[in-house]
Amino acid sequence: MSGARPALIVGNWKMHRTAAESASLARELAERLRPTAGREVAIAPPFTALPGVAAALAGSPIALAAQDIFWESEGPYTGEISALMLQDLGVRHVIIGHSERRRHLGETDHMVNRKVAAALRSDLRPLVCVGEAEAERLAGTAAAVVRDQVLRALEGVAAGEAARLAVAYEPIWAIGTGRAATPGDIVEMHAGIRVTLRTLLGEAGDATRILYGGSVTPANIDGLMASQGVDGALVGGASLKAEDFARICDYR
Ligand code: 13P
Repeated sequence: MSGARPALIVGNWKMHRTAAESASLARELAERLRPTAGREVAIAPPFTALPGVAAALAGSPIALAAQDIFWESEGPYTGEISALMLQDLGVRHVIIGHSERRRHLGETDHMVNRKVAAALRSDLRPLVCVGEAEAERLAGTAAAVVRDQVLRALEGVAAGEAARLAVAYEPIWAIGTGRAATPGDIVEMHAGIRVTLRTLLGEAGDATRILYGGSVTPANIDGLMASQGVDGALVGGASLKAEDFARICDYR
């Protein structure tokens, strides 16, 4: 239930699909998906596929998203991509701080914070990923870990940006495992994130969308979207199959 917040479903294709394959998957999605009031859909292909996917999505209600961004606007930063470059290709949303980047590339809360600031300086809409490891959940520290991640990622963000911002709760142990978090855990963690958003942004924090990610499928999306405090989903594996992703976006 998202109340006044429009729902947001984002497909994160991760490091899958060539440019040609991505354009073809985007075309298939654009044909299948119908615009639904109060629902936004975006797909995040690899950087190399952004121009082709942008062309494939022309005239469709599906928005373009990127999987990362760098915090400087230009300069000697080999391999990095700026907000300006993304906007130039029609990108609207940007995923920041995914646990795979934190784990494999050493991305820290401080780096995530700088990336969020860079996205907000431009017209991009940051989707900030947070989530605990399995050991942290077992140790009973999941809520505290996630609260700290949110506080550090959003440090310095103005209340006026709340509606442009989204947070994705993605417990690491639920990603790619087929083991989604239970509805009870999701509701509890989202409620905790909402409290943290209010601490940071005041009442405006109610405008920020909180998505769930981690083994979202056509089989569990309806229950997920009916859960208190769930404003959308960040979908990995199931977003690579047009039929599955279309069904997820068509949740009831
Ligand atoms: P899966 O949907 O494959 O579990 O991936 C979730 C995810 O990491 C989305 O960003």
